[in-house]
Amino acid sequence: MVDNEEMCTYIDSSDEWIQQRTGIVERRWASDDETTESLALDAARNALAHAGLDASAIDGVIVSTVSHFHQTPSLAAIVAAKIGATGAAAFDISAACAGFCYGLAQAESLVRSGAATNVLVIGVETLSRLTDLHDRSTAFLFSDGAGAVVVGPSETNGIGPVIWGSDGDQADVINQTTDWLTAAREGRPAYIAMQGQSVFRWATGFIADAAKRTLEASGLTPDQLDAFVPHQANNRITDSMLRHLKLPDSVVVARSIKTMGNNSAASIPIGIESLLKSGEAKSGDTCLIIGFGAGLVYAGQVITLP
Ligand SMILES: CC(C)(COP(=O)(O)OP(=O)(O)OC[C@H]1O[C@@H](n2cnc3c(N)ncnc32)[C@H](O)[C@@H]1OP(=O)(O)O)[C@@H](O)C(=O)NCCC(=O)NCCS
Repeated sequence: MVDNEEMCTYIDSSDEWIQQRTGIVERRWASDDETTESLALDAARNALAHAGLDASAIDGVIVSTVSHFHQTPSLAAIVAAKIGATGAAAFDISAACAGFCYGLAQAESLVRSGAATNVLVIGVETLSRLTDLHDRSTAFLFSDGAGAVVVGPSETNGIGPVIWGSDGDQADVINQTTDWLTAAREGRPAYIAMQGQSVFRWATGFIADAAKRTLEASGLTPDQLDAFVPHQANNRITDSMLRHLKLPDSVVVARSIKTMGNNSAASIPIGIESLLKSGEAKSGDTCLIIGFGAGLVYAGQVITLP
């Protein structure tokens, strides 16, 4: 756990500024003996236990991450083998903070088409290793974590239509300013850079509207929702979305960013888990999720909580 006081030993900032601008009080960074793979494996095993399934029942593994530090092979293939999902189709996707929703959309299509029966979807990041801890514009925000679910056949529809897209014209809003090859040649890491105000404008305008379109596509009205789990980018972005969506007070809203920071592809499953663990939401509840981030990319669905 890294609280804001410790954060301020890396950057010139204050607990008050970080809390006021983002809602973050503390964040999680992986310890030296943890890796993106070990976090993914822990999340995968938890998801299997929660689903009551043996790994042999998994025939698809999708890992969403931007912090698997091998271009090849995929982390998904390694996870599939290590959990015992022998021979499962396995691939990684790079959709940054929208990655979990992208993975869910693909898993849903694979199951619906009959191409797979049970697909494990994992969102995992160790962004602390991709972040310049002395960069005042990113260091306080990014964190590490993992979350996973199993998508399988069901008599009732548990994953609504996906609303998604991209805008590569804004690729430089959040990106690695140097590619790995150049960075390696120059003997330095390829850290993430971010234009905070551009992200903020996009998220509170276009993305808030995409969340509204996601809800409309599901055929539900705001009062039929039980929970809202937006990507845990920033509490001010979440607040702005809430105003735009006009959700009633009965809808519980994930705020796991407070203790977990922004861990990109992991933030939505972790946000869901935090609501389930606290008892604010329960299995079977109807929940709007939306992820958005580097690309720029976004994806949202209305789901039934596992
Ligand atoms: C990152 C973010 C919190 C920065 O806030 P901001 O208000 O845009 O910050 P600015 O760069 O305009 O700087 C405003 C002031 O804060 C100061 N400041 C900037 N970074 C600071 C920091 N880490 N600590 C303390 N002060 C800081 C600046 O010096 C400036 O001070 P001044 O007014 O005295 O000149 C904000 O842009 C944001 O929330 N963006 C969205 C980011 C996000 O969610 N990314 C994830 C997407 S997946």
